[in-house]
Amino acid sequence: MNPTPAAAIEFVNVTYRINGNRTLISDLNLSIRRGETLMLLGRSGSGKTTTLKLINRLLAQSDGKVLVDGRSTTDWDVIRLRRHIGYAIQEAGLFPHYSVEKNVALVPRLERWEPARIAARVREVLQLVGLPYGEYSDRYPDQLSGGQRQRVGLARALAADPEILLMDEPFGALDPITRAELQHEFLELKRTLSKTIVFVTHDVAEALMLGDRIALMDNGKLKGVFAPAEFLRSPDDSVQPYVNAFRATRQILNSGA
Ligand SMILES: Nc1ncnc2c1ncn2[C@@H]1O[C@H](COP(=O)(O)OP(=O)(O)O)[C@@H](O)[C@H]1O
Ligand SMILES: [Mg+2]
Repeated sequence: MNPTPAAAIEFVNVTYRINGNRTLISDLNLSIRRGETLMLLGRSGSGKTTTLKLINRLLAQSDGKVLVDGRSTTDWDVIRLRRHIGYAIQEAGLFPHYSVEKNVALVPRLERWEPARIAARVREVLQLVGLPYGEYSDRYPDQLSGGQRQRVGLARALAADPEILLMDEPFGALDPITRAELQHEFLELKRTLSKTIVFVTHDVAEALMLGDRIALMDNGKLKGVFAPAEFLRSPDDSVQPYVNAFRATRQILNSGA
């Protein structure tokens, strides 16, 4: 057997082009450690979602390699790959005609788990995201608040206990109070679950708060990878606007107190 590779996910000279010429991702080299939460930070249009979709092969790179657990995504059976990786997106992407229970049970059903095991897991994972089964299992997505839908989306992504979790601006559409609640719960969850998480955000405060490391993207290029404290100290030209924006907000808050 091969030893387990240290990196859970690795981009090696990855380029993604559309229509044969426009380059959305250029020469990306990035190694994501097992068990870390890596924040992909960047402005809208910088290539964050594209990068995420290259991991679970919703998109296929034009050049280079993406390795998941040391194996190229082109060598993985694509269905196995996707079931190895949970995926949670903004607005949760729930099926509107499925109950909460059915939405959460989706992947375990596809994996043909025993019904009793599915039922137990749905209960467990709903509890984990703060939705008591008795109260929520029979509801439909339009009978939930935005925050509750997002919790269901997270429960669905976690249901089959994937080793890797991809989250694309999961809290982006929530009101600020609900967002802060979910951010706090996320910190708890990441501690207890110890999964490899790649989390897309354009929000610098969110990146600093939730990430073990921050990968900064700009215009399809990776500008650097920083621990939060390094990010705040970095003299890098691409980092400065974020740090300035962050400090300006804090200054306004402090002076108003
Ligand atoms: N299917 C597509 N066709 C053309 N352009 C696209 C397509 N998908 C994304 N783009 C463009 O690629 C760039 C990166 O997009 P995306 O990865 O979604 O950015 P982000 O998630 O950082 O906002 C943007 O300029 C976007 O308009
Ligand atoms: Mg995006």
